Amino acid sequence: EWTMENFIDIEVANIREMVGDRNVLCALSGGVDSSVAAALVHRAIGDQLTCMFIDHGLLRKGEADSVMETFGEDFNMNLIKIDAKDRFLNKLDGVSDPEEKRKIIGNEFIYLFEEEAQKLTNMDFLAQGTLYTDIIESGTDTAQTIKSHHNVGGLPEDMHFKLIEPLNTLFKDEVRKLGTELGVPDEIVWRQPFPGPGLGIRVLGEITDEKLEIVRESDWILRDEIHKAGLDREIWQYFTALPDMRSVGVMGDARTYDYTVGIRAVTSVDGMTSDWARIPYDVLEKISTRIVNEVKHVNRVVYDVTSKPPSTIEWE
Ligand code: XMP
Repeated sequence: EWTMENFIDIEVANIREMVGDRNVLCALSGGVDSSVAAALVHRAIGDQLTCMFIDHGLLRKGEADSVMETFGEDFNMNLIKIDAKDRFLNKLDGVSDPEEKRKIIGNEFIYLFEEEAQKLTNMDFLAQGTLYTDIIESGTDTAQTIKSHHNVGGLPEDMHFKLIEPLNTLFKDEVRKLGTELGVPDEIVWRQPFPGPGLGIRVLGEITDEKLEIVRESDWILRDEIHKAGLDREIWQYFTALPDMRSVGVMGDARTYDYTVGIRAVTSVDGMTSDWARIPYDVLEKISTRIVNEVKHVNRVVYDVTSKPPSTIEWE
């Protein structure tokens, strides 16, 4: 009989047998798949697992700290954090084309992972959170031809690691159950999808520190209000984006000329098509008021009411 407990027992035994007394490296992104994969491998071999978390400076507010806390402290994993914000921002300096940004972020991620992995001389295996659907869908994902989906999970193949992919028979809903069974917190297990290039494709056009800050803070407010309204599991994905434009406003007696924040919130099954979420007006009002009051240099908030197609979910 297939149960989650049986699955864990069998996989733990498999991983132990495969690894023996050798060591496993895992690139942790904070997403559901890599988190659950790491938790499962950790259950099997404990300190023989080392996780690497690369902070490319394009994460949402609180995300890096929550990964470090959950896995470094609560799970007590060997966890290395690589702070690479400056490196990524330097590479992205002056770049405004979305595909170019994706390429730079994806490539830089791989180079950096390789560099850092080489410093750890005793790693034999690489654990990855590849799902069953990743295997059957690879190459047929039509979204891929529209936007080159650089996912931070896709790591180089020519590294001298043997792969461990303990989730590769599972679907997403099973991975969530497994995560919960292994003690991975709800905020990670039920995390909404987040693109590998992160906020880099939510600041439209050229990326600057100031713009990243605006997206990060406005997104934080949006997430907070969606959570308070109890809508977080109904809405498939919700975030703010910063268009490359300014508009005129008035604050007190003074004219302002500042940024516009766009809110994107969609319902979807798999991200291939989507509809805009019917967030109640009073919730939208709270979000809008908070964003203009609490985020510097924002004087306007707009709500995206287009479906996919013809739009895409992300604005880049
Ligand atoms: P779009 O914008 O194509 O997004 O409608 C569909 C889903 O894919 C996510 N997305 C990405 N994920 N790397 C990723 O890992 C990317 O470059 C990327 N672009 C879009 C998007 O967040 C949505 O969930």
